[in-house]
Amino acid sequence: MDRKYKVAVVGATGAVGEVMLSVLSERKFPVGELVALASERSAGGHVAFGNREVVVQDLATFDPTGVDIALFSAGGDISRQYAPKFAAAGAVVIDNSSAFRRDEDVPLVVTEVNPEAIVRRPRGIIANPNCSTMQMLVALAPIHRKAGIERINVATYQSVSGTGRRALEELGRQTAGLLNFQPVEAEVYPVQIAFNVIPHGGDFTDNGYTSEEMKLVWETRKILGDESVRVNATVVRVPVFYGHSEAVNVETREHLSAAEARALLLQAPGVEVVDEPVAGGYPTPVTHASGTDAVYVGRIRDDLSHPNGLNLWIVSDNIRKGAALNAVQIAERLVAEHQANAA
Ligand code: A2P
Repeated sequence: MDRKYKVAVVGATGAVGEVMLSVLSERKFPVGELVALASERSAGGHVAFGNREVVVQDLATFDPTGVDIALFSAGGDISRQYAPKFAAAGAVVIDNSSAFRRDEDVPLVVTEVNPEAIVRRPRGIIANPNCSTMQMLVALAPIHRKAGIERINVATYQSVSGTGRRALEELGRQTAGLLNFQPVEAEVYPVQIAFNVIPHGGDFTDNGYTSEEMKLVWETRKILGDESVRVNATVVRVPVFYGHSEAVNVETREHLSAAEARALLLQAPGVEVVDEPVAGGYPTPVTHASGTDAVYVGRIRDDLSHPNGLNLWIVSDNIRKGAALNAVQIAERLVAEHQANAA
């Protein structure tokens, strides 16, 4: 009989946790027992798992013994505190926070790009990359392999779901309020997000960039396994509920035309090319990405200002491929690894 797994979702009531549960169910992950964990506030409530309701348990008092795989998405502090405990109890932790991503002994994995990195996980922790880096690299890794990317210049248009459930509520509340001539209150974001764009994601760092921008820099290098790739990033939050967009310019070592890049991306795993030079012939969060799995690429153009430059527009559901889906795909790789070892 095929093995079933005891799977814990930490942060099961959150924007990502909720989708982790639905992706596990949709993809028929071999779940023997599902444990939904959140804070004391949610304990005793229920979350949906397939057509079942699962009782939420308090992470603080939960005993992780017997958990095979734990998907964490409850923020960096919770991961730092609890992920090592789950790993020590024998679970493999797939962590969606940024807590361990930079650690040399923690693999940082995009399943279409560097799945082989999963094998070496001495701490029992595998990190899920930042959503913006994730979707960008699903599209750029094939280009890097073919033509060698020297520099990436990216501006993001990030939806509020990346900030969590409270941000989704804030955008809805502000939008409805403004349409009803109510004053705006900003709690999650520093300024009004409804009908606005905010050039600020995460926290400001010492060099004037934000933490979300710096994640694009060093996560890209770690995942591609190439410290020579230079990344220049501007992260912008936009009033979109689900789906991040990115305007990306790359400079390659060897010339790759837009037509060649398009042909390459048509074959790339996880990528869907939507690229017709007509109205609507490009992906957007609402028309393509939201609620779906693919990374959509359009507006593929030769850079008129640089002989080895290329422009792309990359859109994906940040909660699915950018977070929950990739975490479950990593878990599927673990299952395949067990099956191979058992054979
Ligand atoms: P809770 O709903 O009980 O606060 P989001 O990213 O959408 O804001 O979700 C964050 C997730 O992390 C939620 O599931 C939230 O649970 C969970 N979480 C936040 N703080 C804690 C905590 N101290 N212990 C366990 N889970 C937590």
